[in-house]
Amino acid sequence: MIFFAYILLFLILVLLAIALVLSFVIIVESLIKRHDLPTSRRATRALADIIKKYKPDAKIFYDLGSAHGTLSLRIKKLLPHLEIYAIDNSAVRISFAKLKSRILKRKIYFKKQDIFKTDLHNADLVYAYLWYDLMPILKKKLQKELRQGTVIITNTSHFKNWQPTEKIITYHKVSKTCDFETLFVYIKK
Ligand SMILES: C[S@@+](CC[C@H](N)C(=O)[O-])C[C@H]1O[C@@H](n2cnc3c(N)ncnc32)[C@H](O)[C@@H]1O
Repeated sequence: MIFFAYILLFLILVLLAIALVLSFVIIVESLIKRHDLPTSRRATRALADIIKKYKPDAKIFYDLGSAHGTLSLRIKKLLPHLEIYAIDNSAVRISFAKLKSRILKRKIYFKKQDIFKTDLHNADLVYAYLWYDLMPILKKKLQKELRQGTVIITNTSHFKNWQPTEKIITYHKVSKTCDFETLFVYIKK
């Protein structure tokens, strides 16, 4: 009996150590590579509604800067017919995302890659929740590469001098100047 208690205690300690190491890796990674804030559940549901409204027959979805795969995994649950390509340049984040995808048994194509080197010609939908400074370069890439009719949804950060077709505020006024988690819908002309 005592022997089994020791085994149990040992297993609990091993699990705790693994959890501690994983948390440490995630925290250090976030400090080095800038934040990896996931899209909220509320904004994810709004995104699913946008997809149903603008592109119900869409197949290929790109999550540009997918971090730990939170958004991609939730969207796959809400819209299982989508083929999801989730791209991030952090090996640690992509590895975690792949692990989660295996555990949850949701097939997503996670890839460690620079989004600016990702071929987007076949995209029906593109989602980006990125830092403001990346948006002007992303705008150029999308305008050059995407097919006509492709729907682009950005979260909070958006494109200057490109009028969105729709703007959906999912979380009101965190500051005087900004509504957090606003989704901007653009359609490639
Ligand atoms: C705010 S997080 C996005 C979270 C995710 N889309 C979600 O909603 O759950 C932004 C991610 O973009 C990634 N990123 C930034 N620049 C990138 C680049 N040039 N290529 C690939 N990934 C990039 C970062 O590593 C970070 O994980």
